[in-house]
Amino acid sequence: MAEKSPADVCDACLALDSYDEDFIMANDKNITLSVIKADVGGFVGHSSFHPALLDTAKEKLSNAKSKGVIIDFHVMRCGDDLELIMTHDKGCDNKTIHELAWNTFTACTEVAKELKLYGAGQDLLKDAFTGTVKGMGPGVAEMEFVERKSEPVIIFMADKTSAGAWNLPLYKVFGDPFNTAGLIIDPSMIEGFCFNVLDVKEGKAITLSCPEETYYLLALIGATNRYMVSSVSRKKDNEITAVASTQRLSLIAGKYVGKDDPVMIVRCQSGLPAVGEVLEAFSFPHLVQGWMRGSHHGPLMPVPFYEANPTRFDGPPRVIAAGFQITNGRLIGPHDMFDDPSFDETRRKANNVAEYMRRHGPFQPHRLPLEEMEYTTLPQVLGKLKDRFEKQ
Ligand code: F6R
Ligand code: MG
Ligand code: MG
Repeated sequence: MAEKSPADVCDACLALDSYDEDFIMANDKNITLSVIKADVGGFVGHSSFHPALLDTAKEKLSNAKSKGVIIDFHVMRCGDDLELIMTHDKGCDNKTIHELAWNTFTACTEVAKELKLYGAGQDLLKDAFTGTVKGMGPGVAEMEFVERKSEPVIIFMADKTSAGAWNLPLYKVFGDPFNTAGLIIDPSMIEGFCFNVLDVKEGKAITLSCPEETYYLLALIGATNRYMVSSVSRKKDNEITAVASTQRLSLIAGKYVGKDDPVMIVRCQSGLPAVGEVLEAFSFPHLVQGWMRGSHHGPLMPVPFYEANPTRFDGPPRVIAAGFQITNGRLIGPHDMFDDPSFDETRRKANNVAEYMRRHGPFQPHRLPLEEMEYTTLPQVLGKLKDRFEKQ
């Protein structure tokens, strides 16, 4: 019998694609998952969050749910950031949903002001809502999809870092078979994934198709301060699989007002990367920007919800992962995905790397290069020396 060529094997696999039935919708209505976040005041300093603000946010979203504006919600926090997780049927960039988030943030800001919490309303850069929270300070990750027979999603939330922090794990999940076995084993994934990459400095985006454009992708997204993966979709059917918030507060505000502390949604299983493949990408505590004054590199430490309180040198940067099953729009969860001893070694390594980086003090590469600090107060400090420099 003639041997099958790799292409034949591949075609045979695709013909046997048994996972499509999972994409037959439980109901055929689109649902939208919106994660909108902002720092509206820290407790104590920028380290953590006051429960009174969580109560206020829950009350606001509970009202909206009882009026049918949203289907379901969950309120969380990571470090000093308030995270509003909502499901609804209104699509992405919906004015009503964004206004609800904005009003929730402003109500929480009022409480933060009463309690004199630190940096009350820090991320609310405008006075009045103008139709979308995008460009007003909050971070947004939203996706619209038809709910599958079973819909597992993981919502990642980080503190003391920026959206470029997702680039490395997103590449590993959707581009690296050494991380995601499904890329070579699962017929639904073997064609690869498309990455949408935003150039935050130019305000332009490009779509790169992987694996064939992997080197172009890495050439861009290795520069995490400028190019950020905003979404990923499965190539064979364009199914949306991951969306990240890509706002950069410093670029919006024109001066440093805090790091973006990004969020990201990833759908899992049944022809998409498994929950364990998605989480595996965080087992390496890679260096990210955003530690102390948004001006230092440090390792991204995956922690359980209750350990998302960056205190040492305001860090090191943290990421939490909230797992949900979405059931007819209801958010079943969250399950605390990093609350697992299998991440203990990652955390230990992160602490060792944190210690190593800290010993550099004000020296690069712990401290960010000057261009990355252009919106901080350092140029003002250096400005005082301007006239003392003499031509050599
Ligand atoms: C980093 C962060 C903190 C602050 C630092 C100084 O994102 O939030 O590291 O930058 O605590 O804060 P201020 O200038 O408010 O005293
Ligand atoms: Mg803060
Ligand atoms: Mg924060």
